[in-house]
Amino acid sequence: MTTVLTTGANRGIGLALARQYVAEGAEVIACCRVPAKADALKELSAASGGRMQIMQLDVADEVSIASLKGALGDKPIDILINNAGISGLSADRIEAEGWMKTLRINALGPMLVSQTLRDNLRRSSEKKLVAITSIMASTSTATGGKYAYRASKAALNNGMRGLSREWAGDGILVALLNPGWVQTEMVSGEAAYISAEECARGLISRIAELTPATSGVFQDYRGVVSRW
Ligand SMILES: NC(=O)c1ccc[n+]([C@@H]2O[C@H](COP(=O)([O-])OP(=O)(O)OC[C@H]3O[C@@H](n4cnc5c(N)ncnc54)[C@H](OP(=O)(O)O)[C@@H]3O)[C@@H](O)[C@H]2O)c1
Repeated sequence: MTTVLTTGANRGIGLALARQYVAEGAEVIACCRVPAKADALKELSAASGGRMQIMQLDVADEVSIASLKGALGDKPIDILINNAGISGLSADRIEAEGWMKTLRINALGPMLVSQTLRDNLRRSSEKKLVAITSIMASTSTATGGKYAYRASKAALNNGMRGLSREWAGDGILVALLNPGWVQTEMVSGEAAYISAEECARGLISRIAELTPATSGVFQDYRGVVSRW
């Protein structure tokens, strides 16, 4: 059975991914900051026939990342999805604290989680590392605004591209996936043209078809290559 771990699983794209992987028959480790408040995940877990566990993880907190590793031990993880992210800080005005927090959660967090769980990936059959990035990571198409978010996703892309090269020797494949504009708490209104469910279906297909040829390629949920 495929084991999938996703961060930020309590709402939005992360919750839709958890739902669809459970429906496909996978074992899902759904990580979120506050399990006690994760009502949708609790319902999903209760209906999963024991295939879904909820685990605490704040990707900005090294103690929390180490506790997750302690709880998982050597358990193989086939698909590790770095989905958790924020976008609202230091958005209209460049401001140091919001910028640093955005970098910490969106860029450093996924790198630390991936490094900490590298051995769990290595021990699995599929060995797939996923980063949910954004078209706003693109330098060539950058229009301005949301500077902290753009910089954080560009840093995430750069780091994950590096891991796709460095960890290839372990057989680890890295998917760098731009989810499109998705109806979640992060994005609303007309800009968000797809539902979290449609997005998750696309992401899951891209993850399923990931090969050494597409490892480290920046692409969207439909498989269209995005510009760096
Ligand atoms: N929606 C879009 O159109 C869009 C476009 C491009 C990229 N993305 C990316 O897609 C990913 C998911 O976004 P979404 O649209 O589903 O947004 P969302 O509904 O706002 O969900 C964000 C998730 O990240 C979690 N999170 C935030 N900070 C965290 C931390 N320090 N540790 C662990 N979890 C944390 C949130 O948990 P809490 O509930 O505890 O805050 C929540 O589960 C993000 O990386 C985002 O940048 C989204």
